[in-house]
Amino acid sequence: MPRSQDTFRTSSTTKRNQRRVLSGMLSQGMGLLIYMTVAGCFLGAAGAQEKLAATPPMGWNSWNHFAERIDDKMVRETADALVSTGLKDAGYIYLNIDDTWEGDRDATGVIHPNAKFPDMKALADYVHSKGLKLGIYSSPGPKTCAGFEGSLGHEDHDAQTYAQWGIDYLKYDWCQQPPSNVEEMKNAYTKMHEALKKTGRPIILSLCQYGWNKVWDWGPSVGGNLWRTTGDISDRYSVMAEIGFNQNGLETFAGPGHWNDPDMLEVGTGGMNEDEYRTHFSLWAMLAAPLIAGNDLTKMTPYTVEILTNREVIAVDQDPAGKQGFRIAQEGPFEVWMKPMADGSRVVGLFNRQRTVEQMTVNFSQIGIHSVATVRDLWLKKDLGTFSGKYSAYVPSHGVVLVKIKGE
Ligand code: GLA
Repeated sequence: MPRSQDTFRTSSTTKRNQRRVLSGMLSQGMGLLIYMTVAGCFLGAAGAQEKLAATPPMGWNSWNHFAERIDDKMVRETADALVSTGLKDAGYIYLNIDDTWEGDRDATGVIHPNAKFPDMKALADYVHSKGLKLGIYSSPGPKTCAGFEGSLGHEDHDAQTYAQWGIDYLKYDWCQQPPSNVEEMKNAYTKMHEALKKTGRPIILSLCQYGWNKVWDWGPSVGGNLWRTTGDISDRYSVMAEIGFNQNGLETFAGPGHWNDPDMLEVGTGGMNEDEYRTHFSLWAMLAAPLIAGNDLTKMTPYTVEILTNREVIAVDQDPAGKQGFRIAQEGPFEVWMKPMADGSRVVGLFNRQRTVEQMTVNFSQIGIHSVATVRDLWLKKDLGTFSGKYSAYVPSHGVVLVKIKGE
């Protein structure tokens, strides 16, 4: 049955969702108040963080596609590809080496890369010469998730080493059993944050502990610029959708300098179709999520490049207001999401999670617009004209229609 304006307007789900929008707005207001108060308590750290990740970090990470098959040569090739494919110009600046680079510690406790990375400083110099930044990975425990040397007890050593190499971003991944006491986890992250601060080099701190202990409540207070909110993503629509659509409700915790991270992108790794990857990219942009690609950049189809470099969708993610989008209506597999933008417009995503095409509608009253409004389709990159009261579109199976709506 087509999703008409009336379908959404009359359903009890809609009424519940309208109440949710209101209470969401209220709780956003409350969230802001609480944030402002808490922010006063750790102004120094928060100020530095905001400068570091004023908008969600963008870049590439080795894990999703290559896992342990990463070495110096591959990082250099990826740096070249970030430039030649236009991804760097679109904003993908951080080139992040994930797990399996680690070698042994020497007698003084200094960590060295393993044989895959003969000279990390030279590699960082190469990456920087391309106008990019280099990221690295470690763990607050004795071992990383892949069983390599972690940073426990060597936080200062490691932070100093990273700074000497020229590292700009650290993913710090909790791979041991979670402690029963959240303070223990906070202390471990704070320790590395302090160690990084001491180096004097601006290094983004990415917390990875899968959302345990409601990390979004305390991530900024331990110096986190972003924190994973979930377990690992995989290159399947069902997993991506489960993670992405479940981010609803976390919107009050994100903002400039501190972001919810629903994990890295799978766009272009091969397990989803074009519509599914557009959904993935649109949803992550609506969520103001870090956009960290994970595919092989040396072998991209034209549509992978088109998705990853769609500047209008990237601008949704990178909007300076830094507001995370949220769901405003749902009927079974049909979800309508909204992200308020700095210029007063609203970006709306009509997401169809079922297996057949469906017509979906956003009522302007649902997004606080009470007049006519102009609508632009961000995937077609086309102004669609002026609409009164609502906008409807056919949405492909597992697909999205993403529009920017301007009106009073
Ligand atoms: C965990 C993380 C992944 C990746 C691997 C590396 O599973 O969630 O993103 O970093 O560890 O071992």
